[in-house]
Amino acid sequence: MYNIIIYGAGSIGNHLAHACRTHGWNVLICDIDQKALERTRDDIYPARYGDWDQSIRLATADNLPDERFDAVIVGTPPDTHLKLAKSILASTPPRVMLIEKPVCTPSLEGAQEIIELKNRTGTFVVVGYNHTLTENTGRVAQILAQTTIGEPLTMAAGFREHWGGIFGAHPWLNGPQDTYLGFYERGGGASGEHSHAINIWQHFAHLAGKGRISEVSATLDMVNQDNVNYDRVCLLNVKTASGFTGNIVQDVVTEPAQKKMRIQGERGFVEWQVNYDGSHDAIRYWDGKTEIKEEFISKTRPDDFRGEIDHIAAILDGSFDGDSPISIEKGLDTMLVIAAAHISHQHKKTVRINYDKGYRLDAIELL
Ligand SMILES: NC(=O)c1ccc[n+]([C@@H]2O[C@H](COP(=O)([O-])OP(=O)(O)OC[C@H]3O[C@@H](n4cnc5c(N)ncnc54)[C@H](O)[C@@H]3O)[C@@H](O)[C@H]2O)c1
Repeated sequence: MYNIIIYGAGSIGNHLAHACRTHGWNVLICDIDQKALERTRDDIYPARYGDWDQSIRLATADNLPDERFDAVIVGTPPDTHLKLAKSILASTPPRVMLIEKPVCTPSLEGAQEIIELKNRTGTFVVVGYNHTLTENTGRVAQILAQTTIGEPLTMAAGFREHWGGIFGAHPWLNGPQDTYLGFYERGGGASGEHSHAINIWQHFAHLAGKGRISEVSATLDMVNQDNVNYDRVCLLNVKTASGFTGNIVQDVVTEPAQKKMRIQGERGFVEWQVNYDGSHDAIRYWDGKTEIKEEFISKTRPDDFRGEIDHIAAILDGSFDGDSPISIEKGLDTMLVIAAAHISHQHKKTVRINYDKGYRLDAIELL
């Protein structure tokens, strides 16, 4: 049985604790805030999953037991991820580390160092872009592989979701000003919080053999008031190294939410949707000749994290050691696009990403 530690007893810490427990793993949740641990035990976990699971251990960060963990999950706010991840990798490297998305802040501070530390320790480091590992994503990958839509010509992805839902899940917060969400420089705003859209665009571009995003042109709608500074709408036009173009939209204002992706091919299309209704994801596709097909994939919120934790199980038991869809490199490719979006918006220019420069701001060049 694997021994897992989760840093951060917040919303994601609870989701992932539950997903790890469904594998029967030992789970310890740690937080710097005793109140967050109590909230997990008394409110969040029982409200989501029926009962508190007595086998989950809770500890404050200054009171951790002296033991080895097979996997470490960093489920804290984005501006704390890399400092925490680096200190764990440097002192007690686990076999697997999952860092939540977005990996860091748009300053990219510490990003290249985490790659170097990972290479030195041999820890398999992944990032919480869980939508690459859900069933609907697997079905779209199969359809792409069958090439029935012909050569992909363009792709559009959007995660547009009013963040009222997030605040509903955090009733102890009054609004974006109380957390990283209200500050793009801390990894919040639409660009960071809903970066699943950038990531899923990159995921399908990769599967379609179109290469990495090399150009970004962005328009952001910034909310800059006394106590907040974040993008509520983030619009991106992107182009890959092979010339494949498309667009990505992320916002924190759309209600009801729309989480979609569409690939238009030479003779058909495939569409992907998260939360088609309260209990289904969906895909739609057409080969240009026969009727349009639709599939509805029954799911619950815990299913959003099942594929991700199954993937970690496969890494831990040695059955997976390949090119992970949630590798730290892919998570940082998404971070580069987030950083590029802010620079493009600030300079009102298209920017180029030069991957040879590593995961640092130097990699982003004005065109
Ligand atoms: N993949 C997903 O679908 C998904 C869903 C929700 C959140 N997230 C991501 O997870 C991260 C956390 O979001 P959240 O909504 O759970 O936040 P949250 O505010 O609910 O919880 C974060 C917790 O981390 C604790 N913390 C801060 N620094 C710490 C440290 N050094 N050690 C231990 N605990 C520490 C805080 O006290 C807080 O309780 C964010 O990066 C967010 O984007 C991802």
